[in-house]
Amino acid sequence: MKNILHIISSPRKELSASRKLGTAVIEKIQEKYPDVIVKERDLTKNSVPLLEEKHINTFFTPAENHSPEQAEINQYSTDLISELQEADIIIIDSPMYNFSVPATLRAYFDFTSRAGYTFKYDENGPKGLLNDKKLYIAFTSGNIYSEGPYQIFDSNVPYIKNVFGFYGVKDVSVFRAEGLAIPGIMETALEKGIESIVID
Ligand SMILES: Cc1cc2nc3c(=O)[nH]c(=O)nc-3n(C[C@H](O)[C@H](O)[C@H](O)COP(=O)(O)O)c2cc1C
Repeated sequence: MKNILHIISSPRKELSASRKLGTAVIEKIQEKYPDVIVKERDLTKNSVPLLEEKHINTFFTPAENHSPEQAEINQYSTDLISELQEADIIIIDSPMYNFSVPATLRAYFDFTSRAGYTFKYDENGPKGLLNDKKLYIAFTSGNIYSEGPYQIFDSNVPYIKNVFGFYGVKDVSVFRAEGLAIPGIMETALEKGIESIVID
């Protein structure tokens, strides 16, 4: 039995291309593993807060010294991290926003990137603590970034790969629906992105 965590970051609902692409990834996984359990973390509902001093102070205070407010902040963060720890497969719907990820996803990483939970440092440097997981990135964009002159503008897919690589997740597949704003490409971009999905 595999656990899937589906992380959603587009505030759009039925019109969202990244939700459709990410959902198509799940459906193809379900064809292969019919008994998977899917958990959704919709970052556009009850958004993760932007980091404030109280959050950072909490993360660097030992749990036994937490005030009631810090205990609540810590619980919120460790609940997000537990979902990642429990998942065998993680799917992130990741629309490109201003060459990067939506702010909600960025905020999510601020609450999940914690020493002792998702990574640690030892004498050899940083070491990821989320091992043996598979990550699928369902990337959508108005322009094209997989090739051509705008490739170097992409701070979305490489960034997510870096964060998860730092967490120890190295097995990553990326599926793209690109060119969603380009006439002549936009009409079939999502369909082609869905067709490109291969589950290993
Ligand atoms: C706030 C915002 C910023 C965007 N920035 C970019 C961008 O920098 N590059 C790009 O190619 N597309 C950009 N787009 C287009 C989206 O990446 C594209 O429409 C994507 O499909 C949106 O995902 P969704 O359909 O899941 O909501 C932007 C869209 C929005 C709403």
